[in-house]
Amino acid sequence: MYMKNINLKNKRVFIRLDLNVPIYKKKIISTERIDRSIPTILLALKKNAKIILASHLGRPKEGIYNKNFSLFPVFEYLKKKLPKININFSKDYLNGINMKNNHITVLENVRFNRGETKNDINLSKKYANLCDIFVMDAFATAHRIESSTYGICNFVKKSCIGPLLYSEVKILKKILYNPLRPMVTIVGGAKVSTKFSLLKSLLKITDYLLVGGGIANTFISTFYPVGKSLYEKNFQKKAINLYKTKKVFIPIDSRVSSKYSIKSEAIIRPTSKILPNQQILDIGDKTIKKFQEIIKKSKTILWNGPMGVFEFPNFRIGTEKISKTIANSNCFSVAGGGDTIAVIDLFNLKKKISYISTGGGSFLKFIEEKTLPIIEKIKKLNQ
Ligand code: 3PG
Repeated sequence: MYMKNINLKNKRVFIRLDLNVPIYKKKIISTERIDRSIPTILLALKKNAKIILASHLGRPKEGIYNKNFSLFPVFEYLKKKLPKININFSKDYLNGINMKNNHITVLENVRFNRGETKNDINLSKKYANLCDIFVMDAFATAHRIESSTYGICNFVKKSCIGPLLYSEVKILKKILYNPLRPMVTIVGGAKVSTKFSLLKSLLKITDYLLVGGGIANTFISTFYPVGKSLYEKNFQKKAINLYKTKKVFIPIDSRVSSKYSIKSEAIIRPTSKILPNQQILDIGDKTIKKFQEIIKKSKTILWNGPMGVFEFPNFRIGTEKISKTIANSNCFSVAGGGDTIAVIDLFNLKKKISYISTGGGSFLKFIEEKTLPIIEKIKKLNQ
């Protein structure tokens, strides 16, 4: 069931990684997810496999090529990291690839393929036809039931779990077993729907839940108007029920602007007084202080997602202050997610966080269910 125990010699091996890294103007902002996948690639090389590397990048419209979501910059980075290895990039691969032992083919973004996120059977079959063995090592996408992360298993001869997925799960299990209390969980970011459904379970294990970003706006919107801010109407009812647990802390003030722009100036407003033309782009100073107090009295910290639009310098202060408070605390701290890793890199906090998970949504899903669908599937297929 594990890649390390399987003979891959001369076999065509399809390795699903999560190389979904932040890219700005063709430059990779954080290479952490790629770097954490390198040992898996080296293991496949050591085992003399014919290697296919597959990943998604962002959320492009399916069925259409869009250069802004191309994995080409990731391929170039891999080429630099593995200078002695023969490594190619393939844009057009669904009908077959020429492969040799110890050669690597990096596939273009799987989410350009129609049906990928719907776990389309025909697409899953096409992926399966490319290989003899499927290795699932994309921990950060392991909560998604998509053709290249899940469906392919149904049609391939053998499926197994890669070393990164294995070690992430092992470490997270250990951390979650009997954590020191109080435990505080900090959740922010823009992926509201993915994360919102996981908050109920998180509230069962955490003592405090501090929210920022689109998650916070959804809570706020149940009490006050939020102007043009990002929030999800569909989750308002859930937000009201979650808030009743008295463990949820929402921002009391926010940094807002009437324009979503890197040049916008930040204005601090009480969260109860957001104007119709304004949008919340970061937490305010009173909120920062309140959140810092809670973090400082906690013994275990789980952190996923920025407090605001940290890509804009004027709306970065909430994320900066909170991330530095987490890093400088003496608690056991676990951080996870693409944007969270980018924040850790930006403020150079890597050495001060106890454990950094490559997963964001998957990390929260794992905390909720203590397993992931693909793990159960591969277990079953190998019984
Ligand atoms: C992530 O960044 O959380 C993973 O790569 C999954 O991406 P997704 O939320 O677009 O499926």
